[in-house]
Amino acid sequence: MTVSTRKVLVYSRLSPAGIKIAVKPGLSKTNVKKNHMVCKVICAGLNPVDAKYLVGDKLPQFVDDIVGRRSVEGFGVGFDFSGVVIAVPEGEEDGDYKLGDFVYGTTGIGTASIADECVVPLHQVCHMPHSLTFAEASCLPLVGLTALQAFRPYFDDKKNSSRCNEDNNVLIIGGSGGVGHVAMQVIKCLGDSSSPSPVKSLSVICGPTGYDMVNEYGNPDYIIDYVNDDIVKKLEEIVKCNDGPFHFCFDTVTSRHVADDKYKSMILSSVAESSRGVELFRGDYVTIGGTFFDWVRAGIKRIIGFNLFRRGEELFWIKFPYSSFDLIQLKQFAENKSMKPHVSREIPFEDIEAIRNEINDLIGRRVKGKLVVRINPGPSFGQNSKMFDKISGLMCFECLS
Ligand SMILES: NC(=O)c1ccc[n+]([C@@H]2O[C@H](COP(=O)([O-])OP(=O)(O)OC[C@H]3O[C@@H](n4cnc5c(N)ncnc54)[C@H](OP(=O)(O)O)[C@@H]3O)[C@@H](O)[C@H]2O)c1
Repeated sequence: MTVSTRKVLVYSRLSPAGIKIAVKPGLSKTNVKKNHMVCKVICAGLNPVDAKYLVGDKLPQFVDDIVGRRSVEGFGVGFDFSGVVIAVPEGEEDGDYKLGDFVYGTTGIGTASIADECVVPLHQVCHMPHSLTFAEASCLPLVGLTALQAFRPYFDDKKNSSRCNEDNNVLIIGGSGGVGHVAMQVIKCLGDSSSPSPVKSLSVICGPTGYDMVNEYGNPDYIIDYVNDDIVKKLEEIVKCNDGPFHFCFDTVTSRHVADDKYKSMILSSVAESSRGVELFRGDYVTIGGTFFDWVRAGIKRIIGFNLFRRGEELFWIKFPYSSFDLIQLKQFAENKSMKPHVSREIPFEDIEAIRNEINDLIGRRVKGKLVVRINPGPSFGQNSKMFDKISGLMCFECLS
């Protein structure tokens, strides 16, 4: 069926929550760009970066208010998605992806995954894990790639990275968030039969309402409740039990906001203070948020590979282009090691008011796990059901590929 128009969620700074649904011309199915595909989107992830206008917290606040929002006006919202291939370039019909295949991945910046159809570069997609529903698969790419790419330089045994052979005491800060709850699982999945997991002990900091979810998805050795526990005291107790300091910290909470900044100074200052008390930390501290100047340094490191961070510190920045290999690895973790994201809410695409509410929740950093926008019903069964999603995922891999 030819669709001449498509619905797309776009940035619109004068609309409530800065977003609206726009009707745009449909994507051509007969003239698909080389090395791209057109997909019918089944589900799409909704992430903090979407709520923060793509550039949001990378710019200083005053620049963000004046320029940031204007610069993305009319751009499509959303990066990650799961869906069905509906068109490939002429002459590529016998390539890796056939019409009807179920895929997951990310779209280009500003082109929108929260749309009823999307066009994606082949190097940003992969076949969908058959162990996940469309909803689960749609919200894995952004957070899964963040964790996997951030960990790789430290734990890649093939590159003999610094921490791959060590028994590491790992600390993850913000374990109930989208990135944090997947990062707990990804770090445990690293290693294989020839090189076992690099994690000796996993500790996670989260709030009281995220405790059960963190336990269920990450099964960490220690959980620290940042509201009710004395964090430093608890960390000191863990260091004593572990018989050594933390070696690797993945901090998903630090951002440009001063209120989010307490962990980094608390943990890194313990290194300087070690002669006076218990040494909490000796190793690598990776954040995924920071000040404008941290982002500048992260950009320089990413683009020209020049590292301006202090030894043992880094602000990591995700890369979408050429991430298919990483998506394949995440698929293997999902299928072989039962890794999966937690979908806390699924919002229908038609319900723009509900999407706007979720955007506000994301900005307030109160979302547990992941949010998903349901764009179309799952194929084959035409029902909005997780069970049918899963069955159709299995069919895809066992019958079609
Ligand atoms: N650099 C990159 O490439 C990259 C990639 C992906 C994401 N990010 C950024 O990383 C950040 C994290 O993203 P996310 O998807 O995980 O979502 P998020 O919205 O930041 O996570 C929300 C979670 O954070 C928890 N939280 C809030 N304050 C906390 C605190 N002080 N201590 C411990 N936990 C706290 C909340 O738990 P409670 O409700 O219990 O407080 C909630 O479960 C976002 O700012 C995002 O923009 C950066």
